[in-house]
Parts: sequence; structure tokens; C-alpha cells
Amino acid sequence: MKITYELSRPPLKTVEILGIGCFEGDKDFLKRSSCLDAHTKEALQKILSAKKILFKCGETFFTPAPFMKSAGAVFFIGLGKRDKFCLERVRKAAAKFLAQAKTFKYKNARLDLDSLIEKFSLAEIAGAAVEGARLSNYRFDKYKSKPVPAAVVDEFLLASGRAEKAPAVKVSIAESETLMEGVVFARNLSNEPANVMTPSRLANAAKEMAAKNNLGCKVLGRNEIKKLGMGGILAVSRGSAEEPRFIILENRVRKPKFSNPIVLVGKGITFDTGGISIKPSNDMDKMKFDMCGAAAVIGAMKAVANLKLPVKVVGLAPVCENMPGGRAQRPGDIITISNGKTVEVLNTDAEGRLILADALSYAAKYKPKALIDIATLTGSCAATFADLATGLMGTDPELVDRIRRAGEYAGERCWELPLWDEYFDLIKAAYADIQNISKKYAGTITAGMFLKEFADHTKTWAHLDIAGTAWNEGGPKTLSPIGATGVGVRLFVRLIKSYL
Ligand code: BES
Ligand code: MN
Ligand code: ZN
Repeated sequence: MKITYELSRPPLKTVEILGIGCFEGDKDFLKRSSCLDAHTKEALQKILSAKKILFKCGETFFTPAPFMKSAGAVFFIGLGKRDKFCLERVRKAAAKFLAQAKTFKYKNARLDLDSLIEKFSLAEIAGAAVEGARLSNYRFDKYKSKPVPAAVVDEFLLASGRAEKAPAVKVSIAESETLMEGVVFARNLSNEPANVMTPSRLANAAKEMAAKNNLGCKVLGRNEIKKLGMGGILAVSRGSAEEPRFIILENRVRKPKFSNPIVLVGKGITFDTGGISIKPSNDMDKMKFDMCGAAAVIGAMKAVANLKLPVKVVGLAPVCENMPGGRAQRPGDIITISNGKTVEVLNTDAEGRLILADALSYAAKYKPKALIDIATLTGSCAATFADLATGLMGTDPELVDRIRRAGEYAGERCWELPLWDEYFDLIKAAYADIQNISKKYAGTITAGMFLKEFADHTKTWAHLDIAGTAWNEGGPKTLSPIGATGVGVRLFVRLIKSYL
């Protein structure tokens, strides 16, 4: 699908369907459209008046338009009340519009951007429309032996009559495309099954991507991981026939806005069986998604590089597989993380925090301006928020708020949970400094408390628990088919932009 900007000046080329956004209770919205002539406006107004549609958010109305030259049909998309408007509504409107076009096997479609303007600039609206289109258009069907028949829209026109805004709109469309390439890259990595996306394959994919996108990349193997004393990664990978990897990505910035980098850390468990504390078999297949944190970091680095953001960014991903076996770590084992702290491993299924502990400790060498990790860390986070929010915790209220706002804007909502000192009692160990599970309750928070022990070299650390948001398993959603969502990529890019 090709997405192009179009200046809507008559005569417009003919498309099969035109999409128009409608605010709830707005009687004059047709007047604002630059894609309709007076005669068509009148004809459409008649059709609408006969129908009494409120155009609440998500409400839509389709009508053939034989009286119209520039489009065969019109699709009205309810946007709800103006004061509740947000970019997520634009994303969903674009996605719904394209879904409708596909239902009728239309090959080309025009979306009237001017009908969507509220609160945000035309450029931002255009960017969000691109996001909605790309996010919803994504498919992962490479393993189907016969091609899956699917309707495709070849041409998606984003039309506006505001010629003076054209340059900014074009830039925004291009930037959104670049961002979406990062999301698609992350989704593709995550959707691969674990027999394909092994730690070494994931590291190679990162390397290959780095070479193509002007990023520095270094991958540490087992020996180097051992030399660095990364006891968490070594312990978790013990049971697996696959060797661990540690991925380091860095963008190249000529004139950075400030000298210290933003460091992103992503959990990369390519498959989580639970280890000796083995998981029940129900839904265990979903644990191929336990590297979605790493994928988000890698996808975000790709986007950051191509957007040429003048901020130094480092992406770290500890990657391994959590398997049972004769050499696997046991409950009760005591290990030493690379910063010297000892951990009693009471449950080998709480493995993500063990590999992140090493990665967060490693980040100290960068003296990060901000350190943020992202992980499918606790089932309890999904139990708390379902797929409606990413769990957010951190040591710096300014950073936490910055992340919350970035998520809100990007359509990746985050919600804060507290890291009160008293919670530390729940992970104090009998025989080591700290234990890897909570004595009771607060599963998501105590995981955050655990990580905090390894991010204590900086005052600005935050943790994102994407256990509920990393993939969608209930079937297609407006902005994502079944499978990995690529969550984190849009949030990270927006966050990094917030420093400019
Ligand atoms: N990868 C899982 C967390 C997870 C589970 C994410 C289900 C998404 C859906 C993680 O490694 C894990 O197993 N966590 C345990 C921790 C527990 C043993 C303290 C969990 O959440 O049950
Ligand atoms: Mn686990
Ligand atoms: Zn896990």
C-alpha cells in the first residue's frame, strides 16, 4: 500500500472510496471538507439528514455516491466529542476506513484530513493517519505454505486543501513511515517462533539491521558475558542448548543535544518455559513473545537512526532461552550479578529480572541521562491492566511523567505503580542479598523493586512491564492483528523526541 499526500484542489482524481471524519453533534462538518463540491455536499447532507446518525466515537456510515465525480462511495467515521479527541481516534479512524475499503475490495481510497482537525496540527493528524494505516495493515503470514487471500488497498491518499501546510504534512508522513518501519521490524522479530528466533538469530538480526541503518552494533557471546561476570544471564541460559547473547546498539550522532545517552534495555528471553520451576503447558506457546522487550529496543533503534534524532541512544538486550535440563539452574541456587549483588533464585521462572539485572548494571558505564528498561516481566501486570496499559515504575518522577505523557501521545498508554521502600522487605533473602520472587503479593511492584537494585548507579531509571501489552491473543484488534503489537517502539521514539 502506497500512502501519499494529496492537495485537494479540483479536479480531484477519482478514487473508489472517500473517508470523512465526523465529530459528534457537528452539523456543519461537510462544509469543512475540501474533497467535496457544493453539489455533492448537498446530496450527502440529504442522505445524512434522513439517517439521524450521532457519530459517536467508532460509529460509522457507508453510502454509495453515484452523484459524485471524485469518489464512488463515502464512508463517514464518527470521532466522538471534540473535547475527547486524541490522536488515537485518528489512528483508529484511518484503520477502520481501510478495513471498510478492503471489505468492498476497493483498490484506492482517499481520507479527508481536513475533516479530522481538532486540537492537533494537520501534520500530526496526517502522521497519526499513517500510523493507523500501517499498524492495521500489518500481516505475519510468511509461514503459510499457500498465500493467504487478502484484499489490499494499493493507494491511500491523505488529502487536504491547506496548501500552506503541505511541506510540514509531507515531512510528518515520511517520519511516521520511518517510525512504522521500526514497529513492523519489532513485530516481525517477535512473531517469529522460538525455534527460528534463537538468541544467536536475534543477535544476527540486530547486527544486520544495524549495518543497514547506520547503527553501531556489538554482540557479546558466552565467553565475554562470563568475563564480565554476568551471573544472571549465565544462570538463566544454563539449561538451554542455545548460547546467550548480549546485544549493544548505538546510534551515530554528529552534534548531540547533550552528551550523555538515553539507554534502553530490553528483555530478550527467546522462549520462557519457566525452567525447572516449569510453567503449565496451557498458553506456554505465548512465551515466544518473551523477547518483545528486546524487539522493542531494536525496533526503536532502527527508527531513531533513520529519523536522525540528535540524541545519543544506546540499546541493550540480554538474550537467552529459559529451559529446564540437567544443567539448568535450580530453585535455591545463589548467583552473583555483575554489580556484585547476590541473588537467591527461589523460582527459575522469575528469570527476566535476572538477565535485566546484568544489563542494567552494564548500563552504568554510559552514565545515562535516562535509563529505561522494557520487559514482559510479570503475569501479574497483565492481570492488573489487561492489555490497556503498560506498567510503569521508576526512581525519578520527572522521567516517569515524561514517559507517561509520551505513551499517551503515541497511543501506548503507561500507568504508574509505586516503588515504596517498604516493598523491599518482600524480596529480602534469607541467604543472599535479595531473592528473585516476592514473599507475598505485589508481583509487578516487587519485580520493579528487584530491578531497582541494579539501576542504583543512576537517579533516573524507569521500568516498563509490557506483559499485558506486548501481544494480542484474542484475535484481530483495530490497530493490530493477532500477535506481537510492537509496543514500546512508538513510546521510545516519542520519549526521545521529548528531549529535543
Ligand atoms: N515472561 C514471564 C511473564 C509473563 C507471563 C508475561 C505471562 C506475559 C504473560 C516471566 O518470566 C514470568 O514467568 N514471571 C513470573 C514471575 C513469578 C514466578 C514471580 C509470573 O509472572 O508468573
Ligand atoms: Mn518466566
Ligand atoms: Zn519470562
